[in-house]
Amino acid sequence: MSDKSAAGWDDRYRKGEYVWTVKVNQFVERYLSALEPGTAIDLGAGEGRNAVWLASLGWDVTAVDFSQVGLDKGQRLAADHEVTVNFVLSDAVTYQPDAPVDLIVLSYLQLDNPARATILDNVVHWLNPGGTLFVIAHDKTNVTDGYGGPPTAAVCYDLDETVAAFAGMEIAVAEVAVRHVETPDGQRDALDTLVVARRPLRDAP
Ligand SMILES: C[S@@+](CC[C@H](N)C(=O)[O-])C[C@H]1O[C@@H](n2cnc3c(N)ncnc32)[C@H](O)[C@@H]1O
Repeated sequence: MSDKSAAGWDDRYRKGEYVWTVKVNQFVERYLSALEPGTAIDLGAGEGRNAVWLASLGWDVTAVDFSQVGLDKGQRLAADHEVTVNFVLSDAVTYQPDAPVDLIVLSYLQLDNPARATILDNVVHWLNPGGTLFVIAHDKTNVTDGYGGPPTAAVCYDLDETVAAFAGMEIAVAEVAVRHVETPDGQRDALDTLVVARRPLRDAP
């Protein structure tokens, strides 16, 4: 059983170079490239690949994670790319931003309920009108039908549950996305929950 605590993530990040790729996630790149830069929060930012990419496009990014070792590596990645990111050590469940933002990214922040539900509920309230909420995560179906990711369905996302959490938002994309992974045994497919939602310019009365 993997250790999902901050100390467990610190240990994982201490082992070797970057645990994840330093390249931006392919879905983040595909769906967020065309947005006008503003303020953003990357919640569960890890080693900072998505936060650094956003900052390179001109976003004012706050990268939140409860692993100091992960954030230190993110800081190094930001320096390597000559960009500035505001790295914040915090538990994603209790974190509260100082002000609403234009973009929130959740990238493979795999948590059990009720933590997952709390976060999905919170982030809706952190967006400016017209702001974008982007979720990419290992989908529940990946446990039985996909490659890699956590072996436990409880920490994986469910598409219907995620969309339901964003009531009142405009849902631009909601799908179980196939991510091709190159392995020593050839190409395999991983299954990700992908949701892109926008807060309406005016909330429904
Ligand atoms: C799979 S990694 C993804 C990192 C990054 N978003 C990416 O896509 O490369 C999950 C990250 O979530 C962080 N995390 C897990 N639970 C957390 C919590 N309760 N509060 C803050 N960060 C958390 C871990 O420290 C880890 O960096």
